[in-house]
Amino acid sequence: MNVVLDPARVRAEAAASAITLTDISKWFDTADGEPLTVLKNVDLAVPAHSVFAILGASGCGKSTLLNIISGILEPDRGQVCFNGTPARDFNAWRSISYMFQEDRLLPWRSALANVEFSLEAGSMPRPERHARAHEALRLVELDGFEDAFPYQLSGGMRSRVALARSLVTEPGTLLMDEPFSRLDAQTRAQMHEEVLRIHELKHMTIVFVTHDVEEAVVLADRVAVMSPRPGQVREVVAIALERPRDPTLPAVTRYIQRLRALI
Ligand SMILES: Nc1ncnc2c1ncn2[C@@H]1O[C@H](COP(=O)(O)OP(=O)(O)OP(=O)(O)O)[C@@H](O)[C@H]1O
Ligand SMILES: [Mg+2]
Repeated sequence: MNVVLDPARVRAEAAASAITLTDISKWFDTADGEPLTVLKNVDLAVPAHSVFAILGASGCGKSTLLNIISGILEPDRGQVCFNGTPARDFNAWRSISYMFQEDRLLPWRSALANVEFSLEAGSMPRPERHARAHEALRLVELDGFEDAFPYQLSGGMRSRVALARSLVTEPGTLLMDEPFSRLDAQTRAQMHEEVLRIHELKHMTIVFVTHDVEEAVVLADRVAVMSPRPGQVREVVAIALERPRDPTLPAVTRYIQRLRALI
């Protein structure tokens, strides 16, 4: 049986979602002249204040999708809306922070100065920038390391600086592209706790990309599973489990197995 949704209800649901992607397709030109279709008819709704994972194999278009949400890339077809309004009609990008796959810290700047960097494009006076950067480093539990340079920090600490740099602007939306994939398992688990603690405090909408099924299940409220290229959304799975989620518990393992079977 087809369920016909009332258009007003569809609009209301779209408005209640922080981010909606409608029929997004993207292709790239290639040397042989044949366009390479990377994303095809992607529809997604990310509820406001939720943690949303995009899970898929290498090369399926996850980073491309995140770049489209962030406004770095234009889709060839389809639309991105924030709170029901097309992103390009207003400065949606202003309240977005993007944590890239590499930490991209500036080696010649201290941890504090790296965090302050996010605020330098605006007109914020220096003392306030300073105070906010201090606060952001405290938030990621790096007080005492303000003056350290990136080469003096461990991988996990560098990740924390990168996270602080993303948080210092108080983003409404935090995008993360496999931000912890280079860390060892134990440090990655610590960063997961860190992200969940900060989300609990700040309630920003988080969209992150991963190919790590366990990471998706431990962190996310919903997981969109993508097919190999051209990337399409196979299924969106809601993870109806209390946090913290110990990956060795049977309830958590069941989700992990289910998602593995879907990829
Ligand atoms: N600017 C570009 N020009 C041409 N092809 C591109 C471009 N950007 C991405 N691609 C191609 O699009 C496909 C998807 O790339 P994308 O980086 O989105 O994948 P991904 O899912 O993030 O992979 P990974 O998990 O390895 O990071 C790849 O085949 C890639 O070669
Ligand atoms: Mg990628």
